[in-house]
Amino acid sequence: MAKRRGKPPRIPQVGTHGMDDALHEYAVSMSPGESLELESLRRDTWVSTVSPQMLSDELQGRLFSAISHMIAPKRILELGTFTGYATACLAEGLASGGVIDTVDREDELVDMQDKHWESMGIRHQIRRHVGMAKDILDSGVLMSEDSRPFDLILIDADKENQRSYLDWACEHVRVGGWIVVDNVLWWGDVVNVASGNSKEPRAVAIHELNTYIRDHDQLDNVLLPLRDGLQLIRRTR
Ligand SMILES: C[S@@+](CC[C@H](N)C(=O)[O-])C[C@H]1O[C@@H](n2cnc3c(N)ncnc32)[C@H](O)[C@@H]1O
Repeated sequence: MAKRRGKPPRIPQVGTHGMDDALHEYAVSMSPGESLELESLRRDTWVSTVSPQMLSDELQGRLFSAISHMIAPKRILELGTFTGYATACLAEGLASGGVIDTVDREDELVDMQDKHWESMGIRHQIRRHVGMAKDILDSGVLMSEDSRPFDLILIDADKENQRSYLDWACEHVRVGGWIVVDNVLWWGDVVNVASGNSKEPRAVAIHELNTYIRDHDQLDNVLLPLRDGLQLIRRTR
């Protein structure tokens, strides 16, 4: 993919969720930046979708790419494709012959996904599944089409079912493989839950998920306060 040179484009990133904006900008400017193809996908997402803020920001995308390069996965699963931005970032580090299964309930975005994945030359590495994530996981299709365990799983769909997605991921990622969970700070509200000052149900559920991950005897984790919070989790046994 063509590398972008110079200043980052003026496309909204909705990046920091309260973190220091200047530091965030500095981190972006000292990182390689997204490719022209990813920039085009970001632009299309902001022009054509009703909730473009769901898109990963540029720094997060570069982190997904770095993680994927570190692991060199043969098999990745993503829950929550949206317009396919994170899918494309993850594809950058795939091992030769590697594939990504990606799942989303929306069928309206498939043309946009195809257009951009084709222009990036990665369409052949992606198996798209349209439907509710829980139904697709429960259906067995992901393992009947390909029985290899996953090397990397990104959980970024609805927040209500995070715990069941995590349990499924723990069973189907290889020992030593990685699970990444997005939005684990919930706009900072988890801090209020932890201090007893909020009972907001989604923040409570996410705080409980973070606690569950930290105390899980098969998982090792680090919670990164990047954007809305990312859990990087390794299956240890
Ligand atoms: C935050 S966006 C994903 C962003 C994407 N991973 C990225 O980084 O660009 C969440 C996506 O999950 C999808 N989604 C929400 N609930 C779902 C469910 N129960 N099953 C499948 N997809 C779901 C939404 O349609 C949306 O596209």
